[in-house]
Amino acid sequence: MKEFQPTTIIEPFRVRSVEPIRFTTMRERERLLGEAGYNPFLLRAEDVLIDLLTDSGTGAMSSRQWAGMMASDESYAGASSFYKFEAAVQDITGFKHVIPTHQGRAAENILFSTIAEPGDVVLNNTHFDTTRAHVENTGAEARDLVIPEGQQPRVIHPFKGNMDLDALKATIQQVGRERIPAVMMTVTNNSGGGQPVSMANVRAASEIAHEHDIPFIIDACRFAENSWFIKAREEGYAEKTPIEIAREMFSYADGCTMSAKKDGMANIGGFLAINDDALAARCRALGILTEGFPTYGGMAGYDMEAIAQGLYEALDEGYLRYRIRSIEYLGEKLTAAGVPMVRPTGGHAVYLDAREMLPHISPLQYPAWSLNNALYLVGGVRGVGIGTVMFGLQPDGTEKPAAMELVRLAFPRRVYTQSHVDYLAEVILAVYAQRDQLPGYRIVWQAPVLRHFTVRMEPIA
Ligand code: F0G
Repeated sequence: MKEFQPTTIIEPFRVRSVEPIRFTTMRERERLLGEAGYNPFLLRAEDVLIDLLTDSGTGAMSSRQWAGMMASDESYAGASSFYKFEAAVQDITGFKHVIPTHQGRAAENILFSTIAEPGDVVLNNTHFDTTRAHVENTGAEARDLVIPEGQQPRVIHPFKGNMDLDALKATIQQVGRERIPAVMMTVTNNSGGGQPVSMANVRAASEIAHEHDIPFIIDACRFAENSWFIKAREEGYAEKTPIEIAREMFSYADGCTMSAKKDGMANIGGFLAINDDALAARCRALGILTEGFPTYGGMAGYDMEAIAQGLYEALDEGYLRYRIRSIEYLGEKLTAAGVPMVRPTGGHAVYLDAREMLPHISPLQYPAWSLNNALYLVGGVRGVGIGTVMFGLQPDGTEKPAAMELVRLAFPRRVYTQSHVDYLAEVILAVYAQRDQLPGYRIVWQAPVLRHFTVRMEPIA
């Protein structure tokens, strides 16, 4: 008998606990979306069939994670669950000090409140929104230095999340090292389409930072997905395991911030991990104030158990192959039908290009918002519009079109199967077929900041 080489990459798990999803009719969805002010954030989750709002905290946990949770230690100080969590983080990242936090942004808050001050500039390939907000909250500036390819949806490049190294050197020269408290690298680059960063780029950016004595920090939310892309695309890594790749990547850094709601495979949690003793002491002191005692930091013992196990599961090769393949599989179906999107597909989401798809809707009538609403109306699918509604409102109250109008369809980990993805492709194609009928939207009510979460809209007839 010949060895069988399957072309179908199956889900590397079987399902033993299920959660029903609720079907609605198009007429019901029209009513529900209208009641929600045409803002999918204001829908009830039970009215959504396939929820791709985020991959953050929405994943399914394994039986091993649940087993650890049942046996957790909830002691206030010195819980064994903390030591298990700490050992897992140290084993994978190599960082000396592990400071638990309730989620990623809390780690960002502690780090930047400690190292940044007004007049400083923090450099990153692309800051995620919360990272930017925490940098700016200290009075510092958050500057993005991703390579030019990373800003062009249709340009194919294996590592579109890479930092522009010449821009990094030039910026350090221009700003001066004393005003740069950290160079950061976000892996994968969420705001740029979930695009990976190569090991060569991590290494080079780290060298440049260190030549100038600037700490190099990784935003590690999707470190396992990034490791998979390095294995698949970068020369010299095909034979390495994801954990070996992750360890090498972290070895170039002085610390990391982490949201365990992504590649920690948990529903909540995070950490700040750093090598510097003095900095760790200052961060721990602030953590006590805002998060809790250093052996729980905003998490229950069972959350730390879930993460201690989840970090290793995220690095499992079979899991990563399935994970990245599901996104790529949807991307292939859409590309074959000519649907415009960010290419190649990244690690955790497909990003549809609404500006390209809906040229009849002007940016100030919110094409990404319109496309996302159409996905809900037609198929009960919820993504998130990343465009002018999110970024367009200026501090003086005027509006400016965002650089891109994207709809992000982020996949929760281990939650949906291939038939869900097939259904999703059908919905997107059905919307695409009627794209010239999609309306623009106007804002009826908005909050002065972060308006997308609560904005109320109406379609323009
Ligand atoms: N950094 C990146 C790259 C992220 O994607 C996120 C969260 C954070 C930091 C903050 O982590 O939510 O645990 O406080 N991203 C989610 C998303 C919200 O939908 O992309 P958090």
